Amino acid sequence: MAVSAAKKTNGKPGPKHNIETVRQAYYQRIAKHHMTPLWKVMSSIITKEPVSRCVPVVWHFDDVKSLVLESGGLITTEEAKRRVLILENPALRGESKATNTLFAGIQMILPGEVAPAHRHVSAAIRFVLDGEGAYTAVEGEKAFMSPGDFVITANWAPHDHGNPSNKPMLWLDVLDVPAVNFFETSFTENFDEPMQKTTRQDGDSLSFYGSGVLPDGTPAMNRTPVINYTYARTRPIVARMMAAGEIDKRHGARVRYANPITGGSVLPTMGAWLAMLPKGFRGEPHRSTDGTIFVCAEGRGTTDVEGEILDWGPNDVFVVPPWKRHSHNALKASVLFSISDRPAQEALGIWREGD
Ligand SMILES: [Fe+2]
Repeated sequence: MAVSAAKKTNGKPGPKHNIETVRQAYYQRIAKHHMTPLWKVMSSIITKEPVSRCVPVVWHFDDVKSLVLESGGLITTEEAKRRVLILENPALRGESKATNTLFAGIQMILPGEVAPAHRHVSAAIRFVLDGEGAYTAVEGEKAFMSPGDFVITANWAPHDHGNPSNKPMLWLDVLDVPAVNFFETSFTENFDEPMQKTTRQDGDSLSFYGSGVLPDGTPAMNRTPVINYTYARTRPIVARMMAAGEIDKRHGARVRYANPITGGSVLPTMGAWLAMLPKGFRGEPHRSTDGTIFVCAEGRGTTDVEGEILDWGPNDVFVVPPWKRHSHNALKASVLFSISDRPAQEALGIWREGD
């Protein structure tokens, strides 16, 4: 018997051929007490460098658009609440994740439809892909959206959508749902009224807070008060940076969407960037610990992720997993939007980057 073998040696390991048997019996005994030996799992839980389960992937808009349009004939927004097709990382199927911490989906609202008002702890951003004139109402401001617009719905902010235009509107939704669920802190609430009362004009928040002045007495907030960072306003800034030669060797002419009160990220859990790459740009390889979702707003190019080539064109969405060395190459002058959990990692002191 393994146990008696151990006893005979006064608790010291017995003969070599018995030691594994003794250990197994011990592991089984401690398992009954919900315990397990660290030395069996140490190298898999404290890894030498980041290990991601997610893989590089690209969703081409031609496929995405026709499949999402097809859903319009299958289910109404009223029935679906949100008519969204989730972009699932192929290595994380069934988990509603594009990366380990970010949810991504393509949402469509058809002409005349309304997506009813609600709120949730998970923060959301939208990046508009196609259509014109649908709106997102957030915290009393109705933001009419155009392609390239970047719309913020912060933690617990009431929001609803509608499309009074005569064309379908499609946008990319990115939410911090997997991160919120990791902490097991999800709440949500629906409102009786499908549409919230609007108390502000379209563009008020950008004008009030995003113009180099602030309403006097504005308190500091951990997220931006701006609802819609319009493409019409942000694109000329990156174009001007590019013309001035302010081009980062890895990222191109890139701006970070900022909370205008603190200069911090737009949301505590997610940060976003817009970059213009000149035609022929060959970016230097780099890597960072934040898995990133990119959208090609304009142009055409490729991203090399450790030898895997993702080719992208207008409205294609692609994922670069954490700590994967990657470089962008632009075949045409291009604009890339990107979003990641970097602010959350920075707040926790765990964000790293490297060559
Ligand atoms: Fe929502």
